Amino acid sequence: PPSQPAGLPVTSHKKTPETLRSHRWFGVSDLRSFGHRSRLRQLGYDSADWVGKPVIGIVNTWSDINPCHGHLRARAEDVKRGVLQAGGLPIELPAMSLAEPIVKPSAMLYRNFLAMETEELLRSHPIDGVVLMGGCDKTTPGLLMGAISMGLPAIYVPAGPMLRGHWRGETLGSGSDTWKYWDEKRAGRIGEAEWTEIEGGIARSYGTCMVMGTAATMMAIAEALGFTLPGASSIPAVDASHSRMAAASGRRIVDMVWEDQTPARILSSAAFDNAIKVHMAMGGSTNAIIHLVAMARRAGLTIDMARFDAISREIPVLANVRPSGQWLMEDFYYAGGLKALMGELREALDLSCVGVSGVPLGEALAGARVHRPDIIRTLADPVSRAGATAVLTGNLAPRGCVMKPPAADPRLLKHCGPVLAFEDFNEMAAAIDRDDLAVTPDHVLVLKNAGPKGGPGMPEWGMLPIPKKLVRAGVRDMVRVSDGRMSGTSYGACILHVCPESFVGGPLALVQTGDRLEIDADGRRIHLHVGEEELARRRAAWTPPPPRFERGWGAMYSAHVGQADEGCDFDFLTGTAPTAEPEIH
Ligand code: FES
Ligand code: MG
Repeated sequence: PPSQPAGLPVTSHKKTPETLRSHRWFGVSDLRSFGHRSRLRQLGYDSADWVGKPVIGIVNTWSDINPCHGHLRARAEDVKRGVLQAGGLPIELPAMSLAEPIVKPSAMLYRNFLAMETEELLRSHPIDGVVLMGGCDKTTPGLLMGAISMGLPAIYVPAGPMLRGHWRGETLGSGSDTWKYWDEKRAGRIGEAEWTEIEGGIARSYGTCMVMGTAATMMAIAEALGFTLPGASSIPAVDASHSRMAAASGRRIVDMVWEDQTPARILSSAAFDNAIKVHMAMGGSTNAIIHLVAMARRAGLTIDMARFDAISREIPVLANVRPSGQWLMEDFYYAGGLKALMGELREALDLSCVGVSGVPLGEALAGARVHRPDIIRTLADPVSRAGATAVLTGNLAPRGCVMKPPAADPRLLKHCGPVLAFEDFNEMAAAIDRDDLAVTPDHVLVLKNAGPKGGPGMPEWGMLPIPKKLVRAGVRDMVRVSDGRMSGTSYGACILHVCPESFVGGPLALVQTGDRLEIDADGRRIHLHVGEEELARRRAAWTPPPPRFERGWGAMYSAHVGQADEGCDFDFLTGTAPTAEPEIH
């Protein structure tokens, strides 16, 4: 059994038709249930569709404007096929889609919205078990956080990565090559025509970003936690295996309902450790740290920043996938996928953890094989010995900040330089390309007010652009420090998630142009060379910025969002306090 069970309630270990949650809607004989049943008949269903059958909710984040989830409209039909085969009644429930490339100001502003929506969709409807369909960055944590809090049996159907991009014989990777060629364009090495061709070649099938961005990282984490069928997270979106995986997930959730295989029986400290180890071995996105903390807190568990750092020192990067490595997720799948990578990690994982498949991880990994050792490397011969994520602390970040050493220019992993500070994104954007900007390659670029409350929503501004005059001179990396996040597709010596954030008066708010800032990735240290007295003087002179929102979601978000080390969840959504089921009437 998994060690240290989470604090969530486990109701029973075996369900009968009478103990199904949906029985309260459809199985009893009263006036209200007459209404429920007559309205199922209005939908064209007959008693044969529901009597004695689990009702399976399919929370689908498909939308017309989410290219990462474009196939999920059709894929829901595969899930339904599986549910019907296994004797359940599938009910599709659309939820906010959160298309990362479209939603402004940042999809992160709405992750908790999706989590709340998922939880309340399940609570208010006659659902016995749920299939969660997502994959684009924030959708995986949003869906899982809601499902964990609701506590019903839940299985995740990850959207899967899109196919490789192509341009003039080059392979293009999502995000990473956008940044790369944008700098080439700014440096005058490619023109409008080339840029438009790249626009048409970089994303050429439905599915999530196919580098090791937040999407690929979080889908792998969902699998490592035990929320997907083994091997599900690496299947490219448009591969026929993806349809078969969706149908198999539909079949499996029906059995999970009968077995009462709830998140409480899947999640444990050991399961989260497995997920963090997989994250490190994948060379995963820094964003995953925030989401893992939030998911654990929903399960009544805590992961502190030191745990990430300890595991990062223990587990090297094995996945040779951009931006830390060379290949793309499509290649990773052909190389054996996550199952093969977890097979390589076997000795480091807790193989007794039981996920949605119902068997211990050790059994689920049986037959796992690496077909391309250049793409999935071994513990003895990794892509990078430095773990995927280093957690730094110091006077600038008392509650920590993170960086991704394998994606940085090694020369900058230990660096001390003069600060060029920007109060907010707009100030930075207006100045960064000016020819008269006083900046050298040794400067440390600092961006304030990009945090959870200050951004708002902690936007992916952390990979600050290299000043244009330096790009022209061939500079491609600099130390950049902010309280924001960066896309998992980004790279560079970017120090992120500085906690607490500047908007609430964290030390970052006190940094000024001309200060000297030192970082030491190996030593896990970040230090602002400004004396205590001077910092105290600046603190006394600091005034908090005005609130970002007067009303609506933004005001609620600002009032309740936690800091990065708390997973940016809402204070009233964390933990496992019981929530009443809806009354019968
Ligand atoms: Fe959707 Fe990258 S934009 S996964
Ligand atoms: Mg992203």
